[in-house]
Amino acid sequence: MAPDIAVELQDAVLTVTLNRPAKKNALTEEMYGALADAIVRAETDPQVRVVLLRAEGDLFSAGNDIADFSRLAARIADQTAHLAPDQTATETPGAPANGPASGITGRMNVWRFLRALAASTTPIVAAVQGQAVGVGTTMLLHCDYVILAEGAALITPFVDLALVPEAASTVLLPQRIGHARAFGMFALTEPLSAADAVASGLANRLVPAEALHETAQQVAATLAAKPPGALAATKRLMRDAAGLTVIMDREVAEFTGRLASPEAREAFTAFAERRKPDYSRFS
Ligand code: COA
Repeated sequence: MAPDIAVELQDAVLTVTLNRPAKKNALTEEMYGALADAIVRAETDPQVRVVLLRAEGDLFSAGNDIADFSRLAARIADQTAHLAPDQTATETPGAPANGPASGITGRMNVWRFLRALAASTTPIVAAVQGQAVGVGTTMLLHCDYVILAEGAALITPFVDLALVPEAASTVLLPQRIGHARAFGMFALTEPLSAADAVASGLANRLVPAEALHETAQQVAATLAAKPPGALAATKRLMRDAAGLTVIMDREVAEFTGRLASPEAREAFTAFAERRKPDYSRFS
């Protein structure tokens, strides 16, 4: 069976393919592990000069696997149920990153992947078709050259799932597109069209769908021929990797608390039951 993340090195380009089209490339813990390994490999393997991130199927990624979210929420709830009452005040919702609940999440592949992205000095080209949902969009904020197929849309339904945004997107997205539009995306799940993403500087190019992968390969090949030291140093100077990690840690702490909340349980159950969530009973 083909792996859900396919990794191939050719001509100094490490092509990383999201390959779970039947589930709209929803990302599982195992897939994040393979993604993290690929980004780390690009930093350490001198044969890799560029990473090309792409996806099979009609859609780039439906974001985090929601069944995985449910399982993780149950583990966190189970863990916090065993805490002494005076611990729960600081170690459940909005908990600091060193609490036991965030101890579970802190070790997870998803955060390893996002930290690796923040620290990466290898240029990353992304090719996006269809929708990029949740982390499918926020990971693009760490890519260096983003190519969108006509009809693509970026969607961040974190609040709809009773969660908070991650991947330092609470800071990076408002920086790129302004607070008002970022709030509309986060809080109202307003999609950002491919044309608006390019106009606002979140992406580089908009191409016909049939030209997406060839264009991305050409860009990757061009970058692979550049002086690698200068390229890596330029990327390093353009990004505050340590600052991004601090923001991510803050988001993880909040995210962990939200994940185990009754609101989120309702959101995940509603998704599994293919119905609209009902938040009317929450204050
Ligand atoms: N987690 C787990 N499974 C997912 C998923 C996700 N994020 N997104 C899609 N899937 C699964 C569906 O459950 C379905 O599985 P099934 O065939 O076994 O029933 C399959 O992928 C196809 O999804 P479907 O909803 O039928 O495709 P669609 O083309 O009608 O819609 C989306 C695509 C992306 C709009 C829709 O699947 C969706 O909204 N997904 C959830 C996105 C989300 O909220 N992600 C979390 C962000 S933080």
